[in-house]
Amino acid sequence: MKTKITNEQRTLVHELLNRGQDRQTIAEMVSLTPGQVSAIAAHRTIHNKRSQLENRLTRALPKQITTTIPSTSDKILLGSADIGHVFWDPRSSVNPHVLIVGESGFGKTYTTSCLIAELAHRNIPSIIFDYGQGFTPESSNPVFANEARPLQLEVGRKGVAISPFEVFDGDAHGPLSVAQRIADTLVRVYQNLGVQQHATIRQAVIDVLEDAGIYSKLPSTWHKPMPRFGLLHKKLTENAQDPLNADRKTPRTAASHISSLFLFDIFRNNGVSLQWDELLQPKRRSTVIQLRGLEQNLQRATTEFLLWNLLAYLESSGPQSLRCFVVIDEAHRIPTGNGSAVERLLREGRKFGLGILLASQQPEDFTSIAFSNTATKLVFQVSDEKSQVAKQLYKKLKTPLSFLQLYKTITTLDRGCAFALTHNTGNVIRVASFNERFRFAASEAE
Ligand SMILES: Nc1ncnc2c1ncn2[C@@H]1O[C@H](COP(=O)(O)OP(=O)(O)OP(=O)(O)O)[C@@H](O)[C@H]1O
Ligand SMILES: [Mg+2]
Repeated sequence: MKTKITNEQRTLVHELLNRGQDRQTIAEMVSLTPGQVSAIAAHRTIHNKRSQLENRLTRALPKQITTTIPSTSDKILLGSADIGHVFWDPRSSVNPHVLIVGESGFGKTYTTSCLIAELAHRNIPSIIFDYGQGFTPESSNPVFANEARPLQLEVGRKGVAISPFEVFDGDAHGPLSVAQRIADTLVRVYQNLGVQQHATIRQAVIDVLEDAGIYSKLPSTWHKPMPRFGLLHKKLTENAQDPLNADRKTPRTAASHISSLFLFDIFRNNGVSLQWDELLQPKRRSTVIQLRGLEQNLQRATTEFLLWNLLAYLESSGPQSLRCFVVIDEAHRIPTGNGSAVERLLREGRKFGLGILLASQQPEDFTSIAFSNTATKLVFQVSDEKSQVAKQLYKKLKTPLSFLQLYKTITTLDRGCAFALTHNTGNVIRVASFNERFRFAASEAE
């Protein structure tokens, strides 16, 4: 039976390995399983030898697969296919973004966690937006916790100390640009809002900023302390009650549609502090922005405002090589269409060193922008009634596969298997499990 390895056994194993003994013999001599001996052997050099990592991958996958392991450990193993291992190389790719789609229970969150852990292992930290239970300490895989060491930020519960009123360096028109961004974001999120409410919200933002002495015509005022975000709601309510206002209905309906945003007072000075420069340090590994328990529109609005804030930070830092990933599992929680923050990230993130990973059950949750701006796609089993996924994949596919074969493939995949599209080549892969990826580190941690 497999028992915990003692320090004494570990030392003996190292000595016997140094003498060139084979693992079976060592296992018998030290009363361990051959697997435990292998774990110790591999762990000896796990952090300093690139070739060891590649050997590890070779041993971890089925024996019948014989393919050349790439010489750079920047390549991340996605899984094994008939032709050999399939890798993802976000660092050298012009487009590092990933789209994952598939029905419930087929492996989206699991695979996403594996990729976050792999990125963390390569000093690329991730900012994970969590809306459910996917990345809480209780729910996440121990290997994920060990590799990605996620910092949990309880933004949903404690609020966050950023202000949607902030004027970013790229805001050419100062408060006017801010007002436009806030109105656009709210109309995207709260789908009952129309053009009139958009105009009324935009004007209310301008008025609140002016009340705080921040004027579009006076750039010297743009970086004064921001007023409370709650004042936007107050302004709309005042406008709705103003007897001199001919149209009181528009501010009233605008205020009532977006009231949840203010009820929970998410954007507040005493909320969780988001220091992007710290969170994007390679040693940080990963950060979970926890939004569980919030009403869906509030999750969406919060995510959008945080993404705008992150984008502004990245833009102000200038062009960079790949330095971080934004992960949105359950991407139906966040708008991805025209003008959205996700769309901006997909189009321009790479320039500023940011990759994005989006996962969702429903293909309809992804706009054509999301499909066409993600070079790597992992499709788990989908019912694909409208053939939307098959069509999107087929457009990119250079592998000789008929449309019908492709459709049949993606609608009948086993759990844990995905159709992986990378470099316009498609393969059915069995996604490598955590143990296959980090077998040795995990057994050491036991
Ligand atoms: N490649 C894999 N290797 C080993 N186990 C896996 C793999 N993929 C998935 N699993 C197992 O399947 C379970 C369900 O997978 P997961 O939670 O990732 O599904 P999902 O697609 O995210 O579902 P939902 O849409 O409901 O969130 C996981 O808890 C995990 O145990
Ligand atoms: Mg999931």
